[in-house]
Amino acid sequence: MCGIVGYIGNQNAVNVLMNGLNRLEYRGYDSAGISIFENDSIKTFKKVGKVEALKGIIEDRNLSSKIGIAHTRWATHGEPSDINAHPHSDSFNNISLVHNGIIENYSTLKQKLIELGYTFKSQTDSEVLTIFISYIYSQVKDLEEAVRLALSEVEGTFGIAIISNYEPDKIIAARRGSPMVLGIGDDELILASDTSAIIQYTRQVIYLADNEMVVLDANGYSTKTIGNETTTNVIHQIEYDLGRIEKSGYDHFMLKEINEQPQTITDAFRGRLLIDEGNSRLGGLSIIEEKLRNAKRIIITACGTSWHSALVGEYMIEHLCHIPVEVEYASEFRYRNPIILPDDLIIAISQSGETADTLAAIQEAKQKNATVIGIVNVVGSTISRETEAGVYIHAGPEIGVASTKAFTSQLAVLALFSLYMGRMRRVPIIEGQRIAKELSLLPEKINQILENADNIKDIAHKFYKSKNFLYLGRGYNFPVALEGALKLKEISYIHAEGYPAAEMKHGPIALIDKDMPVVFIATKDEIYEKMLSNIEEVRARKGTVIAIATEGDSQISKFADHVIYIPETLPMLIPILSVVPLQLLAYYMAVELGRDVDQPRNLAKSVTVE
Ligand code: F6R
Repeated sequence: MCGIVGYIGNQNAVNVLMNGLNRLEYRGYDSAGISIFENDSIKTFKKVGKVEALKGIIEDRNLSSKIGIAHTRWATHGEPSDINAHPHSDSFNNISLVHNGIIENYSTLKQKLIELGYTFKSQTDSEVLTIFISYIYSQVKDLEEAVRLALSEVEGTFGIAIISNYEPDKIIAARRGSPMVLGIGDDELILASDTSAIIQYTRQVIYLADNEMVVLDANGYSTKTIGNETTTNVIHQIEYDLGRIEKSGYDHFMLKEINEQPQTITDAFRGRLLIDEGNSRLGGLSIIEEKLRNAKRIIITACGTSWHSALVGEYMIEHLCHIPVEVEYASEFRYRNPIILPDDLIIAISQSGETADTLAAIQEAKQKNATVIGIVNVVGSTISRETEAGVYIHAGPEIGVASTKAFTSQLAVLALFSLYMGRMRRVPIIEGQRIAKELSLLPEKINQILENADNIKDIAHKFYKSKNFLYLGRGYNFPVALEGALKLKEISYIHAEGYPAAEMKHGPIALIDKDMPVVFIATKDEIYEKMLSNIEEVRARKGTVIAIATEGDSQISKFADHVIYIPETLPMLIPILSVVPLQLLAYYMAVELGRDVDQPRNLAKSVTVE
């Protein structure tokens, strides 16, 4: 979703800001803008469309400034347009503001400001906040205090950055429920909504806390809360390399990230997999070990692809630990007054660590005194900080909007977690060793699947003109069917549905005809024979079958029109392999259709609004 960059230092701010906007493009956006100082007054440029379009209107102007702010907008209030794009200015262009999040009481504030004689150009809540700060400034004549007082009256979420003619040597920023990171370089400070816009300049960062403000000037930075209390900050190091956020020769980030999976799974296991002990070590959970031992029920909450990994986690945990598990959409959990019992454990799964619904579900669970842990990718993200304990998946930045490597790393961590909890309860060492050994073999097995990419590309070439797809799986492969269908929908815009295979005859079978390709995830397990019967049902109605099957399965080619083979592993680990060909299938079909694979229409990488 929206992205923010701010810069103060000796370089030309315009270059740093535009570069930062390019780095934030992956989050999904519809317009972009920049404000800098030129001849001692604020100059703002904004444009609907890509950052490239903004570049087009500024590149001949030779702009130069030591201070500036910039933004990519993902529309919430008001359509994507030049006027609604950020930065927003007050009536006399004395304040310029960029904003991520939603000001919930904006209409009340707007009404009050209209009564005071203020006028508005855009339809956005962000312009209301800008003018509200301007109004308070007219009373208190102190910019920092005006921002602080305005934010004290605001309801909703925000990450903001402001520059002003009143105090032109400063940037003021603040956050509530929307991430904001400060990069501390040599003689320069870079502010951004995520570290990808910072890493090129410095690895030293401070993650602002909720309700924290920061003031930047040439001498450094100072922080305090919106409630006017002093704060202390810890400086963290960004741990990934710049290469992780560059395409490195791949056509798309998504393809790069699919191909990174042998490495990202290895990274998820590093220092955690104890093959001899048949166990795993999850340092981030040690402080709640007693609560894990006593847990009587687990509720996993997440959205989208992370919700699919939660479904796999449910099967893994129930299988190894014999603890009942429930999986809840975070967006439903937060509003339905869920029953939380004293020995319940809540797991929130999120790649970005910023998803608004997941965050709200965590708050709801905490409100009811539950123990909440996080399985998160982005280090320092809000969810990682709002949970009592947790496990990072260490997949590195995921730039493609459609989640791929984060999904398999979430599954890898859920497997480690199930093993750890299982060994505490009922899993004997021999079984633990078998699972741990199989886990260690997964990176190489993913490599084998990736080597077969050309076969998948050929299949994609045959089917990319299809208008609909069905994805069917059972047991551990049912969530994979959902994920395969979601990947296809997201990046190719082909309609696709995922179902448990046996459910097909309860309705979706009506859709099957010669124009309906059906993807069966039919790996060898205890329900394999039943999957063959389901395939027969599709074939009898002239549907075309693409099967994901286990290497060495000599039967399947008699049932399916096309087969993609994957190596054998334990049933509980199959999703980590079986999803990979589905990621590639979706990718190649989207490429055939000429889609914007890394930034599909309407989607945002981290969904920070309800
Ligand atoms: C799909 C996808 C989304 C996210 C969902 C949750 O490819 O990426 O469905 O999984 O928006 O996001 P996180 O995991 O960041 O909480």
